[in-house]
Amino acid sequence: MRTIYGNWYEYPRYYDIAFGWDPDVEVGFVEDAFHKFGVGPIKRVYEPFCGTGRIAIALAERGYDLIGADIVPAALDFARQRAADHGAAVRWELADASAWSPNEPVDAVVTLIDSFRHLPPEAAKAAVANFAKSLRANGLLIVGVDVGDRPIEVTPEEHWTMERDGVVVQTAVFDLRKPGITPGTTVTRARMAIRERDGSELEIICDDEMARYTLDEFLRLTRGAGFEPLTICDRRYDLRRPIPLSGYAGDIVAVMRLGRAATFVA
Ligand SMILES: C[S@@+](CC[C@H](N)C(=O)[O-])C[C@H]1O[C@@H](n2cnc3c(N)ncnc32)[C@H](O)[C@@H]1O
Repeated sequence: MRTIYGNWYEYPRYYDIAFGWDPDVEVGFVEDAFHKFGVGPIKRVYEPFCGTGRIAIALAERGYDLIGADIVPAALDFARQRAADHGAAVRWELADASAWSPNEPVDAVVTLIDSFRHLPPEAAKAAVANFAKSLRANGLLIVGVDVGDRPIEVTPEEHWTMERDGVVVQTAVFDLRKPGITPGTTVTRARMAIRERDGSELEIICDDEMARYTLDEFLRLTRGAGFEPLTICDRRYDLRRPIPLSGYAGDIVAVMRLGRAATFVA
């Protein structure tokens, strides 16, 4: 089997199979949160870290005006093509979430499945400030993030198998204990083992240094940019089953509102 050590986001054809489950539950949660917590209508939505466009396109198909941004050109190309195939109108931007914000005010910023931890702490601060800058007054921020305890523990391995059009992708994600990494981070290894239609095999191994926050640290970070948590749920994506606002470890989805007066600066 051929092995590539690289950035798995640069292989969107395989990445998108690995994460190719129906986004309906996630998007349904986002829409329920818009209805329950939105102050005024929610129409324009910005998705930083949009990857292959799973969520942005599904939201566009539900009638929202979408701006999707990602730092990897190959992921955006994939998203652009998929949007065209679906007839979905999304504005795509090649942009670093810590350095860019849309130049028109949005009603909500949405980023799911733990993308936020790609940013080291200083960049994360800048990104949250950019989310606040891009939102209109009382706009919503919905963030999926895996929060942990101190001292930093390694998370249990997750693994799953997905298949599309005869291409099978087995994915494993786990934390590595590596000496000398930046305090407050873990190294997460993703391994995709791929079997193509013709039976050929390939594996892609990607190590990412990921920031690690306790729930309290994450809430402090977002409060610093003016966001107040409205509810926090786990990956069951069920607004009727909130989790406590403190002391939780695991995957969360936080729904927050920008608490200050308008911060949008054109
Ligand atoms: C877990 S994937 C995205 C998943 C996507 N949010 C979804 O729900 O399908 C994380 C994405 O973040 C992107 N990314 C990493 N660092 C970034 C940065 N500084 N700015 C923007 N995008 C970034 C990666 O290229 C990758 O596509």
